[in-house]
Amino acid sequence: MTETVTIPADPAAGGFPSYPMPRAVGCPLDPPPGLMELQAVTPISRVQWWDGSTPWLVTDHADNRTLLADPRISADSTYPQHPHSAPGMRESHQKHGRPFIRMDDPEHNRLRRTVTSPFTVRRVEAMRPAIQLMVDGLIDDMLVGPNPVDLVEAFALVVPSLVICELLGVPYADHDFFQKNSKLCVRRDVDPQRGAEADKQLLSYMAHLIDIKLAEPGDDLMSEVAQRVAAGELSHEEGTRTGQLLLLAGHETTANMITLGTLALLEHPDQLAILRDTDEPKVAAAAVEELLRYLSIVHIGRPRVALEDIEIGGHLIHAGEGVILVGETANRDPSVFPDSDRLDITRDARGHVAFAFGPHQCLGQNLARVELQIVYGTLYRRIPTLRLATTVDQIPFKHDALVYGAHQLPVAW
Ligand code: HEM
Repeated sequence: MTETVTIPADPAAGGFPSYPMPRAVGCPLDPPPGLMELQAVTPISRVQWWDGSTPWLVTDHADNRTLLADPRISADSTYPQHPHSAPGMRESHQKHGRPFIRMDDPEHNRLRRTVTSPFTVRRVEAMRPAIQLMVDGLIDDMLVGPNPVDLVEAFALVVPSLVICELLGVPYADHDFFQKNSKLCVRRDVDPQRGAEADKQLLSYMAHLIDIKLAEPGDDLMSEVAQRVAAGELSHEEGTRTGQLLLLAGHETTANMITLGTLALLEHPDQLAILRDTDEPKVAAAAVEELLRYLSIVHIGRPRVALEDIEIGGHLIHAGEGVILVGETANRDPSVFPDSDRLDITRDARGHVAFAFGPHQCLGQNLARVELQIVYGTLYRRIPTLRLATTVDQIPFKHDALVYGAHQLPVAW
């Protein structure tokens, strides 16, 4: 039951529009116009994926939430129709196993439960003073360092990397290694061999770290994981994959939110002024939610497979078919967020799905919120003259990565 869409279907794509779609020139922070058009015309539709398959694409907010929480929808990446985001991933998951983000319950829940305790609101709030101190120190360093500077390298990547290293017990001295390989793992435009090699490098690093933590346990999460491995609660491979997922998700995402959040605010001086002119924590907290909604950095949708026939929105998704749930359009759905393309840090944006929804909802969301609240609440107040040291069209955006962001963001003050 496929409807005709008004956007021109790509003839090379067998009648279905291709996905992912390009963003409009000059609007790097907005979702691709073709996707918004799909949302307006047929929010559940079929598209042509990079491997020639034709999964369903869900672009509106209500259907995203419904399907993300539906137990008939699977995140298991071993199903044949699972829409893998890049070449080589299917083979890699089959050969080297997969992280719990790509498993279903009860396996998913069994593994997720082993690492939830440091991510509760209470535990993360206890980290707030230390994160604040660290952010203040990095800003001190920036102020006495080169001007202009690349914000990504000097600040945006450093904050979440230091935090996740401390939490996991990963030596920060290894940051060049894990940042470089994590970046390769989430890129879709690299040679599959390079992506697979980066994945392997990170896995052997985490496997070795577990062995170190078994010999010399510390007060950190990877030591806990190692103890569970020793107790037989987790296999060594499960502990390794879990550690790799946490290390990667823990820095790559938040770094891009710091980078693009700063760009979005510099491009909206009225919104930046609201944030800069107050030390009220509620203002920074609301700004974080709105920027999560507005930027929706996990911009290539959540991949899933239907386990049973599902009737939704006048369509029948058959058992076994691939489904991609698109957060970046769901978060711009005008029926939920009026005037949805406007950045308004005073709106109530809490219903966004930037951290997804349902069983795979982001494990690190409390931590990401605290980091971003501190950064947005501190950086622009400490450096009120912060400005872009380039033009927007010169910024190298991460168009073809799973997590949207910018490779560099030159700033001056
Ligand atoms: C602003 C920053 C972040 C954003 C936007 C974000 C977004 C997301 C999204 C959309 C998902 C769901 C993916 C899916 O369903 O396929 C997810 C899952 C996950 N995130 Fe985050 N994330 C962020 C920060 C973090 C941090 C700091 C950590 C810490 C380790 C983390 C760890 C995870 C884990 C472990 C999962 C898998 C959860 C599961 O499958 O049960 N994330 N994240």
